[in-house]
Amino acid sequence: MQTAVTICAITGSPRGMRSRTRKLAGFLLAGAEEAGAEIDLVDLADLRITPCIACESCSLDGTCIYTDDFYPLYERMLDADGLVLASPVYVDNVSAQLKILIDRLADAIHYQTLAGKYGCSLATTWESGGAEVVAYQNHVLNYLGVSAIGGMSVPLGDDPGAIGAAEPAARDLGRRLAEAVRTRPHYPDQEAEMAGNRECFAAIVRENRDVRPLEYERWVREGWIRDGE
Ligand SMILES: Cc1cc2nc3c(=O)[nH]c(=O)nc-3n(C[C@H](O)[C@H](O)[C@H](O)COP(=O)(O)O)c2cc1C
Repeated sequence: MQTAVTICAITGSPRGMRSRTRKLAGFLLAGAEEAGAEIDLVDLADLRITPCIACESCSLDGTCIYTDDFYPLYERMLDADGLVLASPVYVDNVSAQLKILIDRLADAIHYQTLAGKYGCSLATTWESGGAEVVAYQNHVLNYLGVSAIGGMSVPLGDDPGAIGAAEPAARDLGRRLAEAVRTRPHYPDQEAEMAGNRECFAAIVRENRDVRPLEYERWVREGWIRDGE
């Protein structure tokens, strides 16, 4: 019997059901479901997440001053084995909606609470910036300690059939993500980068050892910090 796997896709267009990025994420999840995964689609257009104001509250005790839709979404991310970031390209970057979420994940990055998961990224664009936004989103996944198995971008232009034509490739990516969660492939370059990031973040974990002892102990157990350092 195969172990249960959950893939959570977070899509960042503000256009709700009209969004082709959401549609692309749906294709990917359909592929993951075919491969036996449980699926969870999060549309940021349905949520209210306040931008980070750099108050540093989360850095001290792990809690944000805002009680908005962030924490329920963060729980869904923690529960998932695979994470997908999907965004329309907005002026060569992710949408503001997705960037707000990424900034609110700063504490998850510093404490590596999502580390060990697998992920991939999707972007849609009129024409430009797709590859760069996929690369940026995968870079964010690596910051989170999540190994990126790949990604795809779809230039939509004025072709109403463009998103439908991307369905087979998106389904295949979803299938491969579900498979990666089970087989845990290695990506030496990403693993080296993530280890380097953890050397930096370890200073934060050590500094806050007294206020966040459980996090410190988890880092020691993971071998990311040597006790007493
Ligand atoms: C604010 C804004 C900025 C955009 N910037 C770019 C861009 O830099 N390059 C590009 O090719 N398309 C750009 N587009 C087009 C979107 O990427 C395209 O409409 C998007 O893929 C639609 O996704 P959706 O249907 O999921 O909302 C932009 C659209 C908007 C609204």
